[in-house]
Amino acid sequence: MEKSEVVLEVRNLSKDYGNGPILKDISMTIQKGEVVVIIGPSGCGKSTFLRCLNGLESIQQGEIILDGQVITAEKTKWTQVRQKIGMVFQSYELFPHMSVIDNILLGPLKAQGKQKKEVIQEAERLLDRVGLLDKKDAYPRQLSGGQKQRVAIVRSLIMHPEIMLFDEVTAALDPEMVREVLDVMLELAKSGSTMIIVTHEMQFARAVADKVVFFDGGDIVETGTPEKFFTNPETERARRFLNTFTFNIEEKEG
Ligand SMILES: Nc1ncnc2c1ncn2[C@@H]1O[C@H](COP(=O)(O)OP(=O)(O)OP(=O)(O)O)[C@@H](O)[C@H]1O
Ligand SMILES: [Mg+2]
Repeated sequence: MEKSEVVLEVRNLSKDYGNGPILKDISMTIQKGEVVVIIGPSGCGKSTFLRCLNGLESIQQGEIILDGQVITAEKTKWTQVRQKIGMVFQSYELFPHMSVIDNILLGPLKAQGKQKKEVIQEAERLLDRVGLLDKKDAYPRQLSGGQKQRVAIVRSLIMHPEIMLFDEVTAALDPEMVREVLDVMLELAKSGSTMIIVTHEMQFARAVADKVVFFDGGDIVETGTPEKFFTNPETERARRFLNTFTFNIEEKEG
């Protein structure tokens, strides 16, 4: 494995909010173009893990290495790091008083100091890619949840992050809007984006993942290919977790 291929490496990360360990000695390597899907029961530490990766949470032990640089060092400039690690949340966090296009341009103009004329075309191209070019002058309140989430993805994409983190981005959406957002993520995956995705959408996880990582109780319990994990998990904990999802038709029919 070539070292230059590694985008992000997590070494022995531990996190504690003060009431006992939440993440215990987590290690993980993400290659360029790889899609890692993290699944696991509620409260097992998935969101905390993503938040640690882009400095929204401090960590007690371990190292996070992005592009060969230790970003958990004291002097890390997180505003710079966050341009390389994009994050999309369940709540879209668009600015309500700004149009779609202005929400998207804010990062490039403010954080990257670019000129509007440099980035407007790209913003429009990305909006077109997610099927929302006709909404560029709309305000967030005029959009559906699925449309807002696609705008939030474009807002992250336009920063050209090296890796994108998605934390249950469809969890707050009505069922009919889930598909349109998952389709955008599938397309990103196919086009070579490096992504870490936390999701409870098991069919999507299976379709999009190169690697599935199963968390439970702040530990990585099992890591595997989607085929292996979803058809023949190694651990009893993973098996029990998967059995709680009704989509598991093989089980039901068997
Ligand atoms: N700011 C905080 N302060 C103290 N404890 C916290 C904080 N945030 C999360 N926790 C605790 O850390 C644990 C992991 O939470 P986290 O949100 O990472 O879980 P999760 O796997 O994302 O769950 P879900 O699937 O419900 O989103 C939980 O026990 C939670 O109560
Ligand atoms: Mg969570």
